[in-house]
Amino acid sequence: MSSSTTQQFKNPRAKHNFQGRTCSITGVGSYVPAKILTNAHLEKMVDTSDEWITTRTGIKERRIAAENEFTSDLGAKAALRAMKMAGVTAEQIDLIIVATITPDMPFPSTACLVQRKIGARKIAAFDLEAACSGFIYALEIAQQFIMSRTYDTVLVIGAEKLSAITDWKDRNTCVLFGDGAGAAILQNRPDSHGLLTAVMGADGENADLLFMPGGGSRCPASVESVQSRMHYLRMNGKETFKKAVQAMQTAAEEALRRCELKISQIKCVIPHQANRRIIDAVAERLGAHPDQLFVNLDKYGNTSAASVAIALDEAVHSGRFRRGDLILLMVFGAGLTWGAAIIEW
Ligand SMILES: CC(C)(COP(=O)(O)OP(=O)(O)OC[C@H]1O[C@@H](n2cnc3c(N)ncnc32)[C@H](O)[C@@H]1OP(=O)(O)O)[C@@H](O)C(=O)NCCC(=O)NCCS
Repeated sequence: MSSSTTQQFKNPRAKHNFQGRTCSITGVGSYVPAKILTNAHLEKMVDTSDEWITTRTGIKERRIAAENEFTSDLGAKAALRAMKMAGVTAEQIDLIIVATITPDMPFPSTACLVQRKIGARKIAAFDLEAACSGFIYALEIAQQFIMSRTYDTVLVIGAEKLSAITDWKDRNTCVLFGDGAGAAILQNRPDSHGLLTAVMGADGENADLLFMPGGGSRCPASVESVQSRMHYLRMNGKETFKKAVQAMQTAAEEALRRCELKISQIKCVIPHQANRRIIDAVAERLGAHPDQLFVNLDKYGNTSAASVAIALDEAVHSGRFRRGDLILLMVFGAGLTWGAAIIEW
């Protein structure tokens, strides 16, 4: 395997005797809708200002899907780009996992709709719901299938149409979110350690910090549920902020510890793109240099499960790191959920 000549680290999976098998990301792709909603547009919709949004969040604009454009459309477009980069045809894909909290419909899964749209075989396809942490959860699950030799090629997608569950009358939340999708192809690549480790965690005790009350079995759609705006997300911003910083710091430190790595050995840190102040606070606690960070939330806002997937694609294509470099992904979301992953690219 490549990097050991230049980088010293431990592969936590080595003890499992996978006989040289690894799980690498061999292709990435992303897609964001064409429509741009700027802070100036939002000033006309709610009592807010570009200055407030910029200083409190770092977000300048976000993308909004067209009325006839759904999560599966965004996901399929990102997937086709990732497949192209990996040199993988639809026939080669063995499994599709879509991380999302905004499926096209409660069922069937968005993964099944993506399977149809990209022309994949009748392979297994399912959705995964871990809110903004979904992409790392999905990578880790996909990794299990690759390492166990169950499958050779897995398509992982983070895709969201958050504009569909955003309350455009609530200035506390509507300035934060946007639509988009990112995808990755995972395969065995014996000359790389690939996905070295992924830390995942959840805390259901704090489920009520960020949630959507309506549309599930607890509060099915009714005239009352619509009138009381139950089908939009709700959030306690201040508490979520604190938990996000704490959880991402702890998860990233645990991932580094498992690999016996120092933060200075990481070439690029790709955090969940929720709020610039959250990112800076976590980076400072980890001792990461600002140059190590990849941030694109000014353009897209928080796209939940798509967030680190889109950022990963943009970081790769802007040359932020190369084969053999180590990258750290860290996420946080409703649930509460969190995660951190270290990848040898
Ligand atoms: C939402 C968030 C940006 C608010 O920033 P904050 O510094 O915590 O701001 P506060 O909650 O103290 O609100 C300050 C004031 O701004 C007001 N405010 C809220 N949204 C506003 C907006 N869009 N424009 C103008 N004022 C706004 C509030 O009403 C409050 O006014 P008040 O003091 O008169 O009550 C911040 O808490 C945050 O980012 N939290 C994490 C959210 C997140 O990332 N969620 C997803 C996790 S995956």
